Amino acid sequence: MVRTLYAKLSLVLVLLLAVIGLVYVFLSLSSAHYYLQEVDQRLGHDLAKNLVSDRKLVEAGRINQSAMKKTFMEYMVINPSIEIYLLDLKGKILSYSAEPGKVKRNTVSLEPIRAFLGGQTPYPILGDDPRSHDRRKVFSVTVVPSLENPQGYLYVVLRGERYDTVEDFIKDSYAWRLSGWALASALLAGLLAGLILFHLLTRRLNRLAAVMDRFRQNGFTRLEPHIPGAGQNDEIGRLGLAFDQMAQRMVEQLEAVKNLDQSRRELIANVSHDLRTPMAILHGYLETLKLKSNELDGAERDRYLTAALRNSERLSHLVAELFELAKLEAPETKPIRETFHPAELAQDIVQKFQIKADQQHVSLDLDAEKNLPFVDADIGLIARTLENLIGNALRFTPAGGHIYLKMMAESDSVQIQVKDTGCGIPAADLPHIFERFYRGNRQQDSNHGGLGLAIAKRILDIHGSTIHVDSTPGNGATFTFCLPQTQSLSRR
Ligand SMILES: Nc1ncnc2c1ncn2[C@@H]1O[C@H](COP(=O)(O)OP(=O)(O)O)[C@@H](O)[C@H]1O
Ligand SMILES: [Mg+2]
Repeated sequence: MVRTLYAKLSLVLVLLLAVIGLVYVFLSLSSAHYYLQEVDQRLGHDLAKNLVSDRKLVEAGRINQSAMKKTFMEYMVINPSIEIYLLDLKGKILSYSAEPGKVKRNTVSLEPIRAFLGGQTPYPILGDDPRSHDRRKVFSVTVVPSLENPQGYLYVVLRGERYDTVEDFIKDSYAWRLSGWALASALLAGLLAGLILFHLLTRRLNRLAAVMDRFRQNGFTRLEPHIPGAGQNDEIGRLGLAFDQMAQRMVEQLEAVKNLDQSRRELIANVSHDLRTPMAILHGYLETLKLKSNELDGAERDRYLTAALRNSERLSHLVAELFELAKLEAPETKPIRETFHPAELAQDIVQKFQIKADQQHVSLDLDAEKNLPFVDADIGLIARTLENLIGNALRFTPAGGHIYLKMMAESDSVQIQVKDTGCGIPAADLPHIFERFYRGNRQQDSNHGGLGLAIAKRILDIHGSTIHVDSTPGNGATFTFCLPQTQSLSRR
């Protein structure tokens, strides 16, 4: 079995060249054969006529039988390369110059003779060779004794028995042997060139196949950094490039699937952990209330009920946040954009948090530039983001501190900042605070599930925007994001 592409190509090339060589030899031999016959017939065209006049085979309008016999005898001995036959008008052989045993036919067909005499048919015209039942040869013929008184034909077969076969001819011809060698060398050179070329072409394919094999052996996980020749812009180059990109993509997607799986497991672990704690506490209080309902006085009962209620609130808050984040993370979730004035929204939210801020003795101020442009965004989601940020700021800013909600116009957006003078965020926490369930160290047991900033980040994500944090521990934190200005200023 021929297995490699190179072997297959080479085999095809060898066969092709062999066929070309054979066809060439056959064609040129047969055309040379025809050419020789044509030349012979041209040169010997008048041979029959000349024999008649030179040898005086016709005298006084009649065939001179004795001169004819003499001529036959002479030619049989001296010049056996031609054979002379005397035919009657129907083509029957009357007498001839050959040895009697060798003549196999009694008649020769008249068709070629007429064609020859007619002078219209191109050479070579082949006539019957009386020495054989089926062989045909070039000839010369003339009417005897004369055209006016036709009684028969003098039929001269040219070239007698020489060169009856192609091999005889080739053996004899120096030119033919030479051109045979030339042909063989040309074919051999072509074969060599083809083999080298195929080798060069298949070498790159082989390398590519080897890279693919190794990729497969590695379990489709590790791609070698570079495929040789991948940069060349031919089919093999493109194949290599396409493979490169495909494999790269595959590796990335496999990685992504692994990561996704990992984070999914973490999520489930986190969710169950976060739900279990308040649930267990709630359960404990409820159980105590039930078991000891007779022993508890009013104040204790009230304390237990309040604690149970607080944990149930914490649970439902957490579940609501989880649900909100899940909705936001669904790929089909898109913000419902509308045009609104950011300062108006800010005003509402500041008002909402004002009472709580007053209670904590923290100042909460709106600091919006005059003539702010309108923005295009989902007003409900942006309100949610601001609530999360201000809620955090209130939690982390001690009494006497300040919280600012700042808004200023940029070239094609409005920048919004929530700035506080609270405890700030430790550098170690900074990269993680936007991850879901991430709570700073001091916050481990609080009522807060660590989802607020994850929700804010996701909301800005689906708006095509980003949120940044800036903080020096002890000096407060600043959260910043931008919203796109509305395109048509004529609205509203
Ligand atoms: N204004 C802020 N000042 C200091 N730390 C903050 C501030 N905002 C957020 N953080 C830190 O980021 C963490 C994550 O915040 P968030 O996602 O809102 O969760 P949660 O509010 O439920 O704790 C908080 O636990 C806290 O450690
Ligand atoms: Mg929060």
